[in-house]
Amino acid sequence: MSEAMPDTPQFSTANKQKIVELLTRYPRSQGALIPVLWLAQDQFGWLSTPVMELVAAELKLSVTSVLATAMFYTMLYKKPHGRFHVQICTNVSCYLRGSDDIVAMAREVLGIEPGQTSSDGLFTLEEVQCLCACERAPTLQINQDDYFRVTPESLRELLTNLQTVGAKLGPRPGWVDEALAGHGSHEHGGHHHA
Ligand code: FES
Repeated sequence: MSEAMPDTPQFSTANKQKIVELLTRYPRSQGALIPVLWLAQDQFGWLSTPVMELVAAELKLSVTSVLATAMFYTMLYKKPHGRFHVQICTNVSCYLRGSDDIVAMAREVLGIEPGQTSSDGLFTLEEVQCLCACERAPTLQINQDDYFRVTPESLRELLTNLQTVGAKLGPRPGWVDEALAGHGSHEHGGHHHA
């Protein structure tokens, strides 16, 4: 029997309970939107249109306002995303300290270009703007962790370790290889700033 992602996703009982609690903390349901989007991302892996519609229904908000908030935050994923989100700063200070070599090493180790996700669902690679740690350039962020004064060698070691960890964990929930699923290539444009 297939266990494909249902067209009408439902929050788990635990998450429903958390949403009820969140709604008691904010005078307007709009205030709970970002925490609820995080819950949704944790449960479903990424924010598909049906998931955003679910969030809108739970909070009695318009789908448009949910979508607008989701689009604003690059950490909220609008497409299937790798378990490890590798964001390399390529802004001025990091560029002057060799971010090109850092990006080149990431491409070499991961076998993907910025804006792409590896077909095993483990890594999404992106070039990003200043991470506010210019004095410790070059910098990058992987999920919630920051790394400073990165060298190509230290990045190779880091990514190789994460490949080992990722092989055990597997991809995030809701992972669909878009190429295999027949929805076209992995490239949807690398940058999605507000
Ligand atoms: S330019 Fe890279 S952290 Fe500021």
